[in-house]
Order: sequence, then structure tokens, then C-alpha cells
Amino acid sequence: MALKLNPLSFQSPKLPSFSLPQTASSRSPKFVMASALRSGSKEVENLKKPFTPPREVHVQVTHSMPPQKIEIFKSLEDWAEENILVLLKPVEKCWQPQDFLPDPSSDGFYEQVKELRERAKELSDDYFVVLVGDMITEEALPTYQTMLNTLDGVRDETGASLTSWAIWTRAWTAEENRHGDLLNKYLYLSGRVDMKQIEKTIQYLVGSGMDPRTENNPYLGFIYTSFQERATFISHGNTARLAKELGDIKLAQICGMIASDEKRHETAYTKIVEKLFEIDPDGTVMAFADMMRKKITMPAHLMYDGHDDNLFEHYSAVAQRLGVYTAKDYADILEFLVGRWNVEKLTGLSGAGRKAQEYVCGLPSRIRRLEERVQGRVKQAPSLRFSWIFDRELQL
Ligand SMILES: [Fe+2]
Ligand SMILES: [Fe+2]
Repeated sequence: MALKLNPLSFQSPKLPSFSLPQTASSRSPKFVMASALRSGSKEVENLKKPFTPPREVHVQVTHSMPPQKIEIFKSLEDWAEENILVLLKPVEKCWQPQDFLPDPSSDGFYEQVKELRERAKELSDDYFVVLVGDMITEEALPTYQTMLNTLDGVRDETGASLTSWAIWTRAWTAEENRHGDLLNKYLYLSGRVDMKQIEKTIQYLVGSGMDPRTENNPYLGFIYTSFQERATFISHGNTARLAKELGDIKLAQICGMIASDEKRHETAYTKIVEKLFEIDPDGTVMAFADMMRKKITMPAHLMYDGHDDNLFEHYSAVAQRLGVYTAKDYADILEFLVGRWNVEKLTGLSGAGRKAQEYVCGLPSRIRRLEERVQGRVKQAPSLRFSWIFDRELQL
């Protein structure tokens, strides 16, 4: 999940982004062409598109890891089995969405639904926009499994491969699949949101994919997932906290359970990168710096609902205002990872490695300084209608 903040920070070319890719406007050339062809409303234009065009993406670099390094991942097969696969939870011990939802086979079903809807009345529209955005992000899971399977040396070559890497990816996906399921069913039952608009957004998003700039390179890929799992841990943790404050203990529990999965996944991905630092400190620190220079693009950055061309940015602005995921969190995650991987203490690096080390270690404070400057210039935030909440207006 995650974020873009305010219009000013978005314009800063230096600011690390919780933001959309900076190479292109939020409209793809195809969108621009479509509007140039006239035809009044965007709804009409959209009806003419047979499928979702990819929205803005960067120039795509592929296979940037030198092929000989694939051997590193092959040699880590047994290590991954002993250290990473053990972080998965057996299915029989996992919670399932049904554990937190009204039981449709019970006599008390309607009563339980009524209670859920009563509790949901206490939650604000802005809270729902953030929760919907988080849910949509989870629901684009096919994209994330695809992304993991783009990575050289660790991809699932057959769909049922028995390498540790492939087993991890499938089981990780299976665990993650519960997150979108649970939030989707909760939101449906709450009656507070426009499910059809949300479902359209999910379909657009899965059709658009994502552009994380990981270049088929598992160094970049696992640094990216380390960052992302922590970002989702933080944001689901914050939606849990807010639900509790607003009196919806059951929803707090739902978001909290999801957050704890994210934390376990963060542990796995950061452990893989820790191992890469041990085997290849130079290559790993340079990959870390490369990923941070490019900025961590959030998984749902290509979000679109058929109406709002900057939907992700707008949802992110609400999440920032509510404190669910903020620019400060971005800097905090980076600082956490620098510490987690002992980047400051790396020795024996090449000249380029030392430069990369210096860059990532200095980056959290640079981000914070820039963000403070931007915050000082922020003017009154505009308001906007969100299709997810029946076009009601919210302040960004
Ligand atoms: Fe998740
Ligand atoms: Fe996750």
C-alpha cells in the first residue's frame, strides 16, 4: 500500500516518492489521444477501450543482474529452505477471513451483519477511503505474484516448481490472498462504500500492473519487497489503531491480524537481503542505493477508477492526513532498513560501494529535511469527490 502526499512534494524532483513515477504525466499517451478524439465524457471514452491500456511506466530496464550471479540464488536453495520457508505459517494454523466475519450458515447471521453495520456507522468517510485503497492494493495480488516471478534465479519456472524460492512465492501469495478477501467482504457488508466502483478500480489496477523498476533483478526485487512489507505493516497497523479509537474493535482486530502477517513477511524478505549483504556486500549496497535513487513506487500507483486520473495520489493524500501512511513513515522505513542491514558498518567496499553506502545512510535525514520544507509551504488542501464513497466530497 501507500503513498503520495501533497501536491508540493509531488512536484519536487528530489523528493523520494511515495509518488507516481515522475517520467510521465498521470495520463498515458493513449489517454491523451483518446480525449483528443473528443467524445464528451470519459465514461464514453472508456467504453470504447477494449482492454485497459497500460498507464504511465518508465523506460523498462530488464535483466540487470549479471547472469553469473544467478548461481548465488541457486546456492542459497537449502539456506532458504531452513531460514525462509520456516517463516511461513502452516495453513491449518492460519487465520481465515471467515474467522472475523458473520457466519452465513448460522441463525445469528443477520444479527451479526446488523452489528457490523452499526459499528461501521461510527467510522468516517476518510477512514473508509483509506481502508478501500488498502483493500484495492491487496486485491491486486496477481500483479505482485507476477512481479516476483519476473526475478531471475528465483522465479517459479513451472507454476509448481519445487525450488525453495518458488515454494515461498506461492505460499506467500496464498497467505496474502486472505488480506484482500477479508477486507473486501468486510467492506461489502459494511454498506458504506460503492462496491461496483471499487470492483472496477480493482479490475483496472490488475489490468495495468505495476512498475517497480526491479529489472528482473532479485537484489532489487527483495529490497523492494522488504520496504513494501514494512510499509503495509505500518499502514494496516494504523488502520487498526484508528478503528480501535473509533470503537470498532472487530475491525481493529481484522487490520491488526493482517498487519502481523505483513510483519512476518517483512522478516523473511529482510532476512534474504541480510544474506545477500553477507555474500555480496558491494553488489547489495549498490542495489539498495539504486532502488532508493529510483524511489520506492507503491504497488498500487497505477490505480484508476474510470474517473479520477490521479486517484492514487488522492487516496494517498487522505492516508497522509489521517496518519495511516506518511512521508515520515517512508523515511522511518528506510532508516530501519539501513539499521537492520548494518549498512553503516559495512567494510571492504569498492569506491562505488562506499558511495552507495554514504548515499543510503544519509538519505533518511535528507528526506526529512525536504519534507519539512515542503510542509512549511503547504496551502489549504483542496477537496475532491471519491467514487468509492458514492461521490461524496472529502478534503485531501
Ligand atoms: Fe497484504
Ligand atoms: Fe504483504
